[in-house]
Amino acid sequence: MQQADIATFYDQIPYPRLAYHYTHPDRMAVLGRLFGMHPQSVERCRVLELGCAAGANLVPLAYTFPQAEFVGIDLSSAQIADARALANAAGLNNVRLEQLDLRDLDGTFGTFDFIIAHGLYSWIPESVQSKVLDVCAKMLSPQGIAYVSYNAFPGGHLRRMLRGMAMYHVRDTDNPREIVGQMRGLIEFLAAMATPADGPYALVLRDLKRTVAQMSDSGLMHEFLEADNRPVLFHDFIRDAEAAGLQYLTEVTFADRAELNVAPDVLQQLRQQHGEVGSEQYLDFLNGQSFRRTLLCRREVALDRDVSGLQVEGFLVASSAQSTASPSDLTSGQVVRFTTVHGVSATSNRPALKVALTTLSECYPQAIPFPQLCQRVGERLGRTLTGDEVAALRGEMLGRFIMEKEVVEFRLNQSVLTHQAGVQPLASPVARYQAERGWPIVTLTHKMASLPDPRMAKVLPLLDGEHAWDQLAEFLFRGAVGDAEKADSEQLQGLLGTTLAHFARIGLLIW
Ligand SMILES: C[S@@+](CC[C@H](N)C(=O)[O-])C[C@H]1O[C@@H](n2cnc3c(N)ncnc32)[C@H](O)[C@@H]1O
Repeated sequence: MQQADIATFYDQIPYPRLAYHYTHPDRMAVLGRLFGMHPQSVERCRVLELGCAAGANLVPLAYTFPQAEFVGIDLSSAQIADARALANAAGLNNVRLEQLDLRDLDGTFGTFDFIIAHGLYSWIPESVQSKVLDVCAKMLSPQGIAYVSYNAFPGGHLRRMLRGMAMYHVRDTDNPREIVGQMRGLIEFLAAMATPADGPYALVLRDLKRTVAQMSDSGLMHEFLEADNRPVLFHDFIRDAEAAGLQYLTEVTFADRAELNVAPDVLQQLRQQHGEVGSEQYLDFLNGQSFRRTLLCRREVALDRDVSGLQVEGFLVASSAQSTASPSDLTSGQVVRFTTVHGVSATSNRPALKVALTTLSECYPQAIPFPQLCQRVGERLGRTLTGDEVAALRGEMLGRFIMEKEVVEFRLNQSVLTHQAGVQPLASPVARYQAERGWPIVTLTHKMASLPDPRMAKVLPLLDGEHAWDQLAEFLFRGAVGDAEKADSEQLQGLLGTTLAHFARIGLLIW
């Protein structure tokens, strides 16, 4: 497919409108700081997104950081028009969205502290891939960080196998809806009928079926049927990045490494024998990696890979992890389970950590500075934490919990969030616009909002800071959530309270 055809393809079947919290510039800045960099503060940074599609990732960030500057480019004019509409609805003047081929980016755009290229690198011709790396090398500021995600081998071989079969299966169809239906049918058929049923091939197909089941229709089309889909070996990607003048910083999901089933001594041996990049490559071999989210910085940046934790003092810490433990369970040696708003669990029997998580959960989604957290934990335990206890808490947060599935989040900056709905609750205009259209909703912590009750989305557009609780309840009573509920006013009052509390907790409300 030519680049001109790619634009048409995306015009016809726009990519799902999603934000990716891994691409949050503050997250990149935190990781940069951990590895000894001095990234620009997100509050006043410049961000470039290559292949920004309909702006669902970039525009919410622009709303959250009004002093920062954002530029998004995409080949597809239809998607750029959508992105501009979203930015206009949110009244933003700090985001520039251009229909542009990334090969035409020039020095007039200036340099950027953060560059995002998500879901782009593997779906473009090789010549454009090298341009992505060139853009990162030339347009990153001296302490700038680039995020590039891509399909990786060896897992990519399995997806390519399915892609080959899917392309054959839909060869006579050109209606996108039919194609999607046929593809889903094919994988169901293969996973159910592959022989021998308990052999490795059938196992692989069943695993692919699970992957496909989680993909949206357009995601599926783009992943399996686009002309270009080019997984790479990690070390080849890094070789090309280095040739462009960049170096490997870390994987944005680097804490996930803790979950790999690789013994620490094997990991250490791999690092000693093969270095940072080589050992990462072997880890991909071991876990069948199919996708990577890699952070790069300029070649000349001095990195310190000893993540000792000293820098934690400068971080804000947040956690949504709650427990049902009694106060005495928290301060004793009792094991307590904490579960985040995203359903991730962690356990601990250490009083300082248990009290720290409880303290953080009470002010979530706001984060607090680490020293302030230590002080509050001390107050709750009725004594000042000793130096050893502070060090242990820092170690726990870094080693066991840091970013591990978001049990603890580290931030350097945060937007204005509230953890309690006010008298006239206010949600971001971006989220309201998305809710009005039934699109996926992005929170102010840059995550996709999960709403346990679909009726909740109907309340969101009304949260413009001008409607009081009784007006919102009135709106619900008028049947906006469906006639069946009209009669039960108590249930609706309850629904409103639950809805607003949930919105506050997942970061949809502003002060
Ligand atoms: C798979 S989509 C990913 C969109 C978005 N980044 C995301 O992950 O949701 C790839 C996007 O890159 C755009 N694209 C492809 N080639 C491009 C190029 N040469 N210059 C600018 N954008 C390009 C496409 O139009 C499309 O919107």
